[in-house]
Amino acid sequence: MSKEYVLVTGGAGYIGSHTVVALLEAGRNVVVVDNLSNSSEEALERIKKITKVDDIPFFQVDIRDTAGLEKVFDAYPTITSVLHFAGLKAVGESTQIPLEYYDQNVSGTINLTKVLKSRGIKKFVFSSSATVYGDATRYENMIPIPEECPTSGESPYGRTKLFIEHILRDYTLSIPGTYTALLRYFNPMGAHPSGLMGEDPRGIPNNLLPYLAQVASGRRRELQVFGNDYDSRDGTPIRDYIHVLDLALGHLAALKKLEEVEAEEKAATEAPTKGFCREWNLGTGHGSTVLEVIAAFSKAVGKPLPYRIVGRRAGDVLDLTAKPTRANTELKWKAELSMDQACEDLWNWTSKNPYGYSNEPDSTDETPASIKA
Ligand code: NAD
Ligand code: WQD
Repeated sequence: MSKEYVLVTGGAGYIGSHTVVALLEAGRNVVVVDNLSNSSEEALERIKKITKVDDIPFFQVDIRDTAGLEKVFDAYPTITSVLHFAGLKAVGESTQIPLEYYDQNVSGTINLTKVLKSRGIKKFVFSSSATVYGDATRYENMIPIPEECPTSGESPYGRTKLFIEHILRDYTLSIPGTYTALLRYFNPMGAHPSGLMGEDPRGIPNNLLPYLAQVASGRRRELQVFGNDYDSRDGTPIRDYIHVLDLALGHLAALKKLEEVEAEEKAATEAPTKGFCREWNLGTGHGSTVLEVIAAFSKAVGKPLPYRIVGRRAGDVLDLTAKPTRANTELKWKAELSMDQACEDLWNWTSKNPYGYSNEPDSTDETPASIKA
């Protein structure tokens, strides 16, 4: 029998590349589709170095390009499942170019799903986000956040994730023998412990850890802490930071779960009447404040990192901490790695690759020459 493949869209990106490593290490065969709009092919070379697997078919294709996707499936007709990471992900940018977000994320996913349907590919793991919960503190007893917490799209980006969840649920339920996992990630951080692979943001980082990493490597002067007047232990907001390696393993666990459900349905005497779609939080269940993260990362770097308290950032919420019990029990998956480990791995990656995969300073870097006194 010819070998089965998992298609990974966005497989050259931050979470996708770590998940490709996890899949290969578990003995899966992987095909990667990525338009490289926010990544570099070098990530795939690093994956080969880490896993010693050379055969990683790669297609530089946009998920909105039907003909491009058809070629992928023509070349690899034994793709049996899809992990779908490809998309745009910056909350702030999504308010500036919302149509681009709806087009790439929502239309892109619809396009991909149509092709999957036409090819009879029934297992789909989707990268959703804790952002679909909006401000969970508006309800009583919803911290830590369970999957049952009512959802709310608070930015164009967040709405794309929410709309995609609805679309995939409707689609999946309409076709018996179709299996979809909606994985709501909390705040990924860290890098591969080899120092060969990590997050490589373009331009000025939007997120806390990549920004802090660039402060540590001297590319940025100081971190701005967005507000210390929240109702938390030190006044800064709380997030559930999860090591990207744990997150990657969560995908493998979700894929196995879909395969299990499929096998159970096939063994049952009665055929299913609708498809299977389920949401799972991927988080640790533990919340850390911004100041706690700064302290943990400073410890890994071995020196205090400069930061300044400024006003709140629009749209930020007090607390996004996961209740991961459903994933712990149903997926038999649990985040194992500590924040200290994630900080060490992030610093290992950053110190070895201060300019990411390109090795070139970015034009936005606050290098001594560009810093105005
Ligand atoms: P990333 O930007 O590093 O990876 C996304 C990858 O998709 C990139 O390699 C990019 O080139 C590719 N891509 C983007 N648009 C594409 C398109 N139209 N066609 C083909 N390829 C395309 O981001 P990431 O942090 O690895 O995030 C992966 C997924 O997880 C995204 O869907 C994101 O929304 C979701 N997510 C991320 C976070 C986070 O904090 N990083 C949290 C929750 C959810
Ligand atoms: C974390 C904390 C900031 C930068 C976003 C998306 C979410 C998900 C993850 C994709 C907050 C503070 C940050 C800085 C700071 N992505 N901060 N100074 O906002 O929790 O989540 O990324 O789905 O959907 O909304 O992540 O890393 O931007 O912020 O003080 O320069 O760090 O206020 O409390 P966030 P983040």
